[in-house]
Amino acid sequence: MGDDIRPEIAKLRELINQAKLGGGAKAIEKQHAKGKLTARERLDLLFDSGTFLEIDMFVTHRATEFGMDKKKALGDGVVTGIGRIEGRTAVGIAQDFTFMGGSLGETHASKIVKAMKIALSIGAPIIFLNDSGGARIQEGVDSLKGYGDVFYMNVHSSGVIPQIAAIMGPCAGGAVYSPALMDFIIMVRNTSFMFITGPRVVKAAVGEEVDEFSLGGAEVHAGKSGVAHFIASNDKEAITIIKKLLSYLPSNNMEAPPRINIGDDPYRVDEELNNIVPEDPLKPYDMYKVINSVVDKGTFFEVHAQYARNAIVGFARLNGWVVGVVANQPNYLSGALDINASDKISRFVRFLDAFNIPVLTFMDVPGFIPGTYQEHNGIIRHGAKIIYAYAEATVPKLTVITRKAYGGSYIAMGSRHLGADFVIAWPTAEIAVMGPKGAAEIIWRKELTKAPTPEEREELLNKLVQDYKNKIANPYVAASRGYVDSVIEPGQTRPALIQALNALLTKRDTGIRAPPRKHGNMPV
Ligand code: HXC
Repeated sequence: MGDDIRPEIAKLRELINQAKLGGGAKAIEKQHAKGKLTARERLDLLFDSGTFLEIDMFVTHRATEFGMDKKKALGDGVVTGIGRIEGRTAVGIAQDFTFMGGSLGETHASKIVKAMKIALSIGAPIIFLNDSGGARIQEGVDSLKGYGDVFYMNVHSSGVIPQIAAIMGPCAGGAVYSPALMDFIIMVRNTSFMFITGPRVVKAAVGEEVDEFSLGGAEVHAGKSGVAHFIASNDKEAITIIKKLLSYLPSNNMEAPPRINIGDDPYRVDEELNNIVPEDPLKPYDMYKVINSVVDKGTFFEVHAQYARNAIVGFARLNGWVVGVVANQPNYLSGALDINASDKISRFVRFLDAFNIPVLTFMDVPGFIPGTYQEHNGIIRHGAKIIYAYAEATVPKLTVITRKAYGGSYIAMGSRHLGADFVIAWPTAEIAVMGPKGAAEIIWRKELTKAPTPEEREELLNKLVQDYKNKIANPYVAASRGYVDSVIEPGQTRPALIQALNALLTKRDTGIRAPPRKHGNMPV
């Protein structure tokens, strides 16, 4: 008696089982053989056990051309729903490659858009797991319309809810623009690629021979184009990265990110920092050491690690509070700013500002990289983005000047003049129009040419450099003007920053009252 089930219930169970098979057992086998998980397996890993509520499981497409009336699967090649990730609500979208290659047609897109609308209305992050052959060719303009609708939602969700894309298979053609419009992209090594036009079209159009991974694989986008922010070795690792990233983010722009106090002493002093800056200004040092020493132990989570390594960006915690770290890396291109570093920094600062995350900047910057490559490719336009992003940001901004702070790059890297709330300088800081040697060679050029021997010229130059340092290139001139709030021993940086951050947590805006505007015109 207990085993009897009503026929309606039996039918429902059968339909659910059918839906869960997506494109069928064979296609699932093929997916696994490629080292990829299925859409549902990915969502199972992502969401806390038993919390994922699938929606639109019974949706099917209504296309009829080219045999589409015979090609149907419940769910139409995408799984959408809502659940909890580490206890917090999020919306999940996972394309199912086993049905028609996860291609996007009219109803597939409408499911995605519906899930995105839910995410926006409840203020929950969107996680979009991409694995798709792109626009469903049989559905023509309806597929294109579908992409347009998704892009529209991406744009209107931007800055309201965090949007995270993982690329876990193909992502080609215009399809790349949904992830590109989101906040972070994770790519899986060896199974994912992104490109506007694939190898065959590239060969036909420009005669270049290139395979799909050399054209748009994870390494290419994480290291060269900057399109991807993280590389994962496999699907499971991609999910782990998503969870870690979410742990630093608020659910929406009306919230603060979750505070997690790991118990690191806020008054911890690190004497080693007192000797980290080399005496020779031409010698580099590792800014990661500074960051890791100052923030709560083990909390620094780097973003865009392979791209523009002259700059460092990432999340960390300071006395439990989430901060976004932006830094120059003296170990790479002397930490000078170039086009890629400008894009990396400005986009990150804008994300932080949109989601109420304070910016912590470590500055050691000798300038913008000179030369025709940088100039002709628009370092002026790109560098301007950093200035815009910092000046526009209303979140608490804390800046530590460790050494070089030269010229325009000093202003750009979160200086007081762009609205930093608290600026600390180490005694090793050199804040000036340019480095002391270059400055002395220009100001005293005539005197230096009059030196009778090269040795005497060198001796005079050393004296003049010292003079320039004593009078100009030091932190005390800026401190005497109030541009630097405090000159401290490097070892004291952590407690000083925590004190400042505690005071700034209630900061609401810049206090500047400009006439209303629709939006500014950021250089892009
Ligand atoms: C319809 C598609 C499809 C698509 C794949 N399939 N892509 N069906 N529309 N775009 C189907 C295949 O026909 C196949 O069906 C199944 O999915 C699995 O594909 P395979 O080719 O067997 O898989 P694989 O060898 O892994 O190759 C995957 C692939 C390849 C690299 C994605 O399928 C491919 O090149 N597809 C076309 C990609 C493309 O040109 N898309 C349009 C991009 S332009 P069966 O029935 O045999 O299992 C675009 C514009 C967007 O997207 C514009 C937005 C503004």
